[in-house]
Amino acid sequence: MPATVVVGAQWGDEGKGKIVDLLAQSSDVVCRYQGGPNAGHTIIAEGETFKIRQVPSGVISGKTSVIGGGCVVDPEVLLGELDDLRARGVDPSVVVLSGNAHLIMPWHVAIDRASERRLGKLQIGTTRRGIGPAYADKAARIGIRVQDLLDAKILREKIATALAEKNVWLERVYETEPFDLEDVAARYQGYAERLRPYIDDASLLVDRALRGGADVLFEGAQGTLLDLDHGTYPFVTSSNPVASGAATGIGIGPSRIDRVIGVAKAYVTRVGEGPFPSEIEGPDHERVRELGAEFGTVTGRQRRCGWLDLVALRYAVRLNGITSLALTKLDVLSVFPQLPVCVAYRLRDGSETRDFPPHQSDFHHAEAVWEVLAGWEEPLDDATTVGDLPGAARRYVEFVERDLDVPVELVGVGAERERVLAGA
Ligand code: IMP
Repeated sequence: MPATVVVGAQWGDEGKGKIVDLLAQSSDVVCRYQGGPNAGHTIIAEGETFKIRQVPSGVISGKTSVIGGGCVVDPEVLLGELDDLRARGVDPSVVVLSGNAHLIMPWHVAIDRASERRLGKLQIGTTRRGIGPAYADKAARIGIRVQDLLDAKILREKIATALAEKNVWLERVYETEPFDLEDVAARYQGYAERLRPYIDDASLLVDRALRGGADVLFEGAQGTLLDLDHGTYPFVTSSNPVASGAATGIGIGPSRIDRVIGVAKAYVTRVGEGPFPSEIEGPDHERVRELGAEFGTVTGRQRRCGWLDLVALRYAVRLNGITSLALTKLDVLSVFPQLPVCVAYRLRDGSETRDFPPHQSDFHHAEAVWEVLAGWEEPLDDATTVGDLPGAARRYVEFVERDLDVPVELVGVGAERERVLAGA
């Protein structure tokens, strides 16, 4: 199967990094197709922990690692990551950066912060990395792209044009400090020199790889419910994490994608604001957060925790065309004698639905309808395949498969690469 998309099936933080790292072992190319340094992928390989935000997870295993045109790139973060990888003995020369990707500029970060401050109670809870403002400029056709770094004159002109407007906003609307043209131009010229060797035609490279029979992995950042078009708007990110985003974000046709692996935690987490029908109430919330170490990789924020929500997961299966699932962090549930699973939502009029409500007011008021499964109350350390899991843990996995009519291909039971078990 040459082209595989790995997509987050919940609100991000599903443990995609680990699954991509595992699948990358047998792939030739790994691509990021959307998002930017708002993503935080944690990978534990050979006892070392890597936290990467901008570079595809495949870099750890030395695979060609493509940052597609659908991404936004903060050059300072990217260069910092490349330096760090080099210092830790990982070769960063495998990284390929699309010239079509948009640059996150310092004013994007400043506007992201200032606009969240201004929104106060209504804030989105962004990662404050400039993601929304960078994508907004892209859509308004006033963004600055990676390829602009290749021409010093064009780069300076574009920075000057942007600053003439952004500084007015920063000073008059957001009442914050403006940026100095010389300062920004000199900094970005410095980044340009260092990024030049990585810039290439990502679409052509991936097309050639696929034609040559290579295995290509497309790594989604964030998750389905954070998708700009299909997620829980406005509490979403500004790009398209759904699987079809891989085609536009890299520059290949949708017919080239062979399979889509949805990654979902055995429970659910969410950072930032917004409704969350299966959110856990009472002391179990803190227990799941502690056992699952549910604190943001990028922001360090505490994540909100919920029991598994099959209504939302069913929606993710539909939106992404998920062909199999990877269920991560099953071990976190090992201490609980009973495991509620949300199988439907009860709406304001008292009706129940198994489908994700298309109207946001219905979702805001939706209450979880639970089915309670038995826990296994023993560690999962000894299992080497899904078949080895304790009976109740197997039944939990089978319940998900049956309800969604999708096979669970992989089950995560620990932090290391080896602790991902293959399904039957
Ligand atoms: P932004 O992507 O920084 O604009 O943030 C928009 C929303 O997406 C916020 O609710 C963030 O918490 C959320 N978000 C962005 N990236 C991630 C991620 O990698 N994991 C989980 N949530 C994320």
